[in-house]
Amino acid sequence: MSDSVELHLGSERFSYPILTGTENERAVDIAKLRDETGLITLDLAYKNTGATKSAITFIDGDLGILRYRGYPIEQLAEHSTFMEVSYLLLYGELPSAVQLEQFNQSIIRRTLVHENIKKFLDAYPGGTHPMGVLMSTIASLSSFYPNSLIPNRSVEDVDRTIHRLIAKMATIAAWTYKKAIGHPYMYPNNKYDYVSNFLMMMFGHRTEEYVPDPVVVDALNKLLILHADHEQNCSTSTVRIVGSSHANIYASVAAGIGALWGPLHGGANQAVIEMLEAIKEDGGDAQKYIAKAKDKNDPFRLMGFGHRVYKNFDPRAKIIKVACDQVLNRLGINDPILDIAKQLEETALSDEYFVERKLYPNVDFYSGIIYRAIGIPTDMFTVMFALGRLPGWISQWKEMRESNEPIGRPRQLYIGHPEREYIPVGKRKG
Ligand code: SDX
Repeated sequence: MSDSVELHLGSERFSYPILTGTENERAVDIAKLRDETGLITLDLAYKNTGATKSAITFIDGDLGILRYRGYPIEQLAEHSTFMEVSYLLLYGELPSAVQLEQFNQSIIRRTLVHENIKKFLDAYPGGTHPMGVLMSTIASLSSFYPNSLIPNRSVEDVDRTIHRLIAKMATIAAWTYKKAIGHPYMYPNNKYDYVSNFLMMMFGHRTEEYVPDPVVVDALNKLLILHADHEQNCSTSTVRIVGSSHANIYASVAAGIGALWGPLHGGANQAVIEMLEAIKEDGGDAQKYIAKAKDKNDPFRLMGFGHRVYKNFDPRAKIIKVACDQVLNRLGINDPILDIAKQLEETALSDEYFVERKLYPNVDFYSGIIYRAIGIPTDMFTVMFALGRLPGWISQWKEMRESNEPIGRPRQLYIGHPEREYIPVGKRKG
């Protein structure tokens, strides 16, 4: 197979090397294109453009494969924990028992937030979307830890900052929920593991000992693992490009939270439940909404369906669908919108419009049903996505900084006015 491509420009010939990845994906290295030819490439939404080389996550969209550091997502979801997967993403290898315990302790000991964070939460009007609170509060951590803003600090300092961020995001997320429902904050308790501590801060009460339900803890570990990283998606690319300016990790992650909020990205899990609820309210006719999704004149899209990379089942959706049935059965919950979701999936997967466009359920299609079953309100679903994606964002930010990547700065094709003379306002027409 050729190891280069040739560009013919008039009578000139230019050759560009083809790079091959671990799994035999191939890329044309055009680093010298503009200097040699004056040309740039144009690729709206970067559908065909690689932004970096990464060793963290591998996705094969045609085969529906997802691996973190080489480990298949199915095995990690079945056997690992969110903390262990976070360590794997951050440091590249599964931890020993001692390393995992040290990592857990380093995070659990940093879950407390400065009391002034409450003043942020008190300042927001009722009904504020939790993603807005999370984004601004995470950025505000830069005010409380100014020493961690100094770039190129020691490995220990960077690790401390990373562990601090993972620890405090869970507390901030839970306190955002408690504030929204008018309940007193629950302080983190070091006797719980990360997921149980989060659940206690979300659903615990000061008047009684919180006893985590193992079914719920297992389901939430699985969901957070499934969301932990997904190579160069919209929000991760945002974290990387903000971090490439040497902005601190809090600012970079806050920007990623903003990108994830969009309903085409992480906001889809909230949009899926709102869609299923609307279909239920409208009589539960899946066919009617499949028709709307296919109608080019109808802005309605089947939320939770389709993916930029997966042109097969999103492996995460398969795992979550099985977990959905298990969790609802073990909690004794019969949620009618699960039946509507299954109807939509069954109908869409046999419909030419979806088959032709290779549109399958993605990670967001069933996840909201589990979040709902464990008591998490719809407007917190994307916060849950952010909590899961945090170790992935940080791992990608860390990889980008450790490889000294230059500041990201794409080019453009200018299509505006040619040069023209300024006309003083008194002499302008109209
Ligand atoms: C996530 O990148 C990641 O990895 C993201 C993520 C992660 O873990 O980080 O996996 C998480 O963001 C999952 C995606 C969540 N979003 C949704 O579920 C929203 C609904 N899905 C779509 O908006 C859409 O499928 C996207 C945004 C996910 C992907 O859009 P693309 O790749 O830009 O594809 P497209 O919009 O160009 O669609 C191609 C065709 C179009 O039809 P034609 O113009 O060819 O006739 O498919 C159609 C689209 O109209 N289409 C849909 C559809 N998704 C695509 N039609 C109806 N319903 C849909 N959901």
